[in-house]
Amino acid sequence: MIFQKPSLRTRVSFDMAMRQCGGDALYLSPNEIGLGQRESIADVARVLSGYVDALMARVFAHEHVLELAKWSAIPVINGLSEYNHPCQGMADALTVEENFGKKSKGLNVTFIGDGNNVAVSMMHVSTKLGWNFTLASPEGYDLNPKAVEVAKDIAKETRSKLNFIRDPHQAVKGAHVIYTDTWTSMGQEEETAKREKVFQPYQVNAKLVSEADKDVIVMHCLPAHRNHELTDDVADGPHSVIFPQAHNRLHAQKAILARLFGVA
Ligand code: CP
Ligand code: NVA
Repeated sequence: MIFQKPSLRTRVSFDMAMRQCGGDALYLSPNEIGLGQRESIADVARVLSGYVDALMARVFAHEHVLELAKWSAIPVINGLSEYNHPCQGMADALTVEENFGKKSKGLNVTFIGDGNNVAVSMMHVSTKLGWNFTLASPEGYDLNPKAVEVAKDIAKETRSKLNFIRDPHQAVKGAHVIYTDTWTSMGQEEETAKREKVFQPYQVNAKLVSEADKDVIVMHCLPAHRNHELTDDVADGPHSVIFPQAHNRLHAQKAILARLFGVA
């Protein structure tokens, strides 16, 4: 497990998933291997391919995880990049299905806030599973256009509706799922003050939640910046599924590993 950024959930859930399935996991911290600095990514990938059975990497630049995959002889799992967070998306899909059942086609999933890596994965998994996906984001914080093209292609098959708007109140009307994430992702820390201002109208609070479907669930990948993007009363209230969602990371990681090792 190569980490260029901090992690609680991804690190611990992958480690425990491996151990509970009878394997081992090794944590390589940001300072440890200097991916692409002490040694080229291509060389790291080829060396590790001889030692371990799979790699999980959390990186800044998405190209770095692609580069690892290009040179590795073993499966490479994206544990979050600036572009997307697919393992989170798997746990999120499990969480939505747990709450609404397998017949979830046609659900309305609304993401409020930054069109970031987590939003990309939620959009992709939503369209794949036939859920309608709406993002309400401020101007300048839209989803990556390439990611939107991918979603549009999937939606042609599944008939999911995609909706990109500015108004969070309009976005939550009829929403079965409200999802939010930090306003400032890892690597964007110098923009924090500016983002705090821009995203203030996008706070997921009790008023916004009351405008959604009465059985709406509120999701957050965590870590949450409480009383910024998500208020305490909502995070700890009856609509919140943030802790079962975090726990589902463990089960989803097992499924990902089982699939990659050819046992599921
Ligand atoms: N949601 C998530 O990926 O959390 P960590 O950054 O703690 O791994
Ligand atoms: N968007 C956040 C997710 C953290 C799990 C980030 O990239 O920092």
